[in-house]
Amino acid sequence: MNKEDFNKLSENSQKEKLEKNVEKYNEYIIELSQNPKNWGIPSKDEFSVSQSYTGPCGDTMKIFLKINAKKIEKAQFISDGCRACIASASQTTLLIEGHSLDYAKTLKPEDIDSALGGLPEDHKHCTELAVRTLRRTIDKYESQQVN
Ligand code: FES
Repeated sequence: MNKEDFNKLSENSQKEKLEKNVEKYNEYIIELSQNPKNWGIPSKDEFSVSQSYTGPCGDTMKIFLKINAKKIEKAQFISDGCRACIASASQTTLLIEGHSLDYAKTLKPEDIDSALGGLPEDHKHCTELAVRTLRRTIDKYESQQVN
């Protein structure tokens, strides 16, 4: 499956998932989950490192980072997760773009939740998936620099 087909399939399956339980989310989260910023798989020469992670809930996220001089120039993601997961991942990429790796490493799930204006209690854990995936992506990049 090529990149365009994958993106289209992912978008369609996401749209179906996102139809449900809209009412418990704020407008910003709904908009960000339906039209996520920084969604998609970049071309090989457009990122420095990528890493996927599957959380305890079974949802998977993959983050792509373009890094230059320890600064995150671009961040993208894909995920098969829920609305809160998509919004969390998208918000995470928005928070880290243009910032240092050191700054990105300090991000906590509460920071993502706060930037989103507050997820419903039963979905606050979805921010964990974004933070854990980000940490693993940065760890991978840093270990590649050492070796
Ligand atoms: Fe898995 Fe939201 S339920 S990330």
